[in-house]
Amino acid sequence: MRSLRDALGQFATGVAVVTTATASGERAGVTVNSFSSVSLDPPLVLWCLSERAPSAPVFLRAGRFAVNILAAGQDELSRRFATPAPDKFAGVDVLATPTGLPMLAGTLATFSCRTVTVHAGGDHHIFVGEVEHHQRSGGEPLLFHCGRYREFASFRDGEERTGPFRLPEARHHGLRGPGRRDVSRRQGSGPRGRDPVETLLLGDVEQPSAVGFDDPL
Ligand SMILES: Cc1cc2nc3c(=O)[nH]c(=O)nc-3n(C[C@H](O)[C@H](O)[C@H](O)COP(=O)(O)O)c2cc1C
Repeated sequence: MRSLRDALGQFATGVAVVTTATASGERAGVTVNSFSSVSLDPPLVLWCLSERAPSAPVFLRAGRFAVNILAAGQDELSRRFATPAPDKFAGVDVLATPTGLPMLAGTLATFSCRTVTVHAGGDHHIFVGEVEHHQRSGGEPLLFHCGRYREFASFRDGEERTGPFRLPEARHHGLRGPGRRDVSRRQGSGPRGRDPVETLLLGDVEQPSAVGFDDPL
């Protein structure tokens, strides 16, 4: 199990908080990294929730949910919604989506969905929802990889580097960057291939009680 979890954890993801509210005003929110797009036409998304999660009955009853994509710096919010509590929303800046679902402030995007199917997936429910409304602010994402929160620090090729070595050397020697930074590299070009190559450094965010939760990989 540990070995499978570690292997699956190689897959880097974003982090989302899925929220809901029932007709009687009961609210729930859960941190997930199992969010995925499914289809554009019709617009469908999915996410998975442990059958053992205390909030599962609320999501099943509500029949709708909102996916809030967390921004870099929102790791505290992620920890809060990954920790069972009677009212996870206390003290959190909460707005409402046009369909009346709890929407967390300062996120990159929010998708308000109507649950269309709940599949059984081993010990998880797989919620498939039709996107009824979405809004996007954009910005840098909060990332999750190997049980750790991470963030990008981006810069353009040719800019002054301040670390003890240049990125390609670090990769060549299999070295790790300064401090706790892990180094990775992405190259891309614009639609006509004329944009400058962008390089991204991947840095750790101060960690929670490492992986003090059950589900994430
Ligand atoms: C980064 C991260 C990703 C997570 N992804 C999932 C997930 O996809 N599905 C899930 O059931 N739990 C996931 N969890 C664990 C839940 O957030 C956690 O069990 C939470 O307490 C469930 O909410 P509840 O206790 O209110 O039911 C994740 C936790 C973290 C920190």
